[in-house]
Amino acid sequence: MKKYRLAIVGLGRMASTIDQEVINYPPVKLPYSVAASCQETDRIELVAGADILLEKRSAFSNKWGIHALYQDYLEMIVQEEPDIVAICTKGELHAEMAVQVVESGVKMIYLEKAIACSMDEADKVLEACRENGVFLNTGVLRRFDSRYQQAKKWIDQGEIGDLQYGVHYAATSLLHGHIHSVDTLMYLMGDSWATRVRGDLRPHGLLIEDNRLDSDPSSTYQIVFENGLEATTIPVGNWDFEIFGTEGAIKSSNNGMNWQLQQKTQVTDRYTPFLDVEYPDPVHHSATIFCLEDLIDALETGCQTLGDIGIAHHATEICLAVAESHRQDGSWIDLPLKNRSLYIYHV
Ligand SMILES: NC(=O)c1ccc[n+]([C@@H]2O[C@H](COP(=O)([O-])OP(=O)(O)OC[C@H]3O[C@@H](n4cnc5c(N)ncnc54)[C@H](O)[C@@H]3O)[C@@H](O)[C@H]2O)c1
Repeated sequence: MKKYRLAIVGLGRMASTIDQEVINYPPVKLPYSVAASCQETDRIELVAGADILLEKRSAFSNKWGIHALYQDYLEMIVQEEPDIVAICTKGELHAEMAVQVVESGVKMIYLEKAIACSMDEADKVLEACRENGVFLNTGVLRRFDSRYQQAKKWIDQGEIGDLQYGVHYAATSLLHGHIHSVDTLMYLMGDSWATRVRGDLRPHGLLIEDNRLDSDPSSTYQIVFENGLEATTIPVGNWDFEIFGTEGAIKSSNNGMNWQLQQKTQVTDRYTPFLDVEYPDPVHHSATIFCLEDLIDALETGCQTLGDIGIAHHATEICLAVAESHRQDGSWIDLPLKNRSLYIYHV
């Protein structure tokens, strides 16, 4: 089996240290960080890292025994010729770095979310990946998580009938948080494209000056998809998801820890409630390992990745359309988003 060489840009939490933060947090299956995930798959070898900070490079070297360390990530790519580059810097650098990594000839990229702060930036990432045949996945990890994949399988098998509506529950920020909720709803509901979006940013009345926000606001949203499905988020709860169909519902609670399948049941002539039916306990694997190996599967087979750049670009467009809706006093915004320079900073 070929072993692919992976190099990381940005040697902080997601790259290296986040595992220790979630040791007693059952919703996350370790390994979580990119470096720890590389150690547990025999398809990838961690070969190098780049960070502008000397102390981050030293800590990374001590933790993982990697000595090919660089201040300049582009020099790292030239010297080390990695097959995969994982970009684990903060959000404002994602798009620019992704384009540079594509242009340096790398064919597989793990790009942290969200891929961009504006659609102008996201368009450049999409175009660069498409023109250069690059396979990309982002860190929206629920679609790579075996528990959500099992739910999707049951939905696809028709266990809840024809899909109708998806609901997410949690108070969270737009581009750091809701990029995850939007992506997960898209995934569970078949990755169809949205046609209209509306939303509100919090606090109510938040002003977007000069088409730019320098912080990532909390938000709510409603989405209408081209196949007629709809989705929304409620700003309370614990990263719960509910997907409703004509014949039942699949519900997850406590950030994926508890799962419930309900099906329409004829109780009396007139009464057909959704009642709990048996649903197997999902197996729980590391989503980061799945995400990285999915890049390799895509390269080796020529099929698209599960979190293809087109999907990541569209999820970003939905989030930015929420901000545009807020800017237009909560109006429905038709996609594609016209205001492509609207910029929302996120970490
Ligand atoms: N997918 C997930 O579940 C998940 C979890 C945590 C964080 N994240 C995302 O990962 C990204 C990084 O977050 P973090 O918490 O790991 O950040 P962090 O601050 O811990 O690490 C970022 C690192 O990037 C380095 N850096 C900055 N500019 C650089 C440059 N020009 N070249 C090289 N390195 C540079 C910094 O010095 C820092 O060490 C964010 O986008 C965050 O949203 C995702």
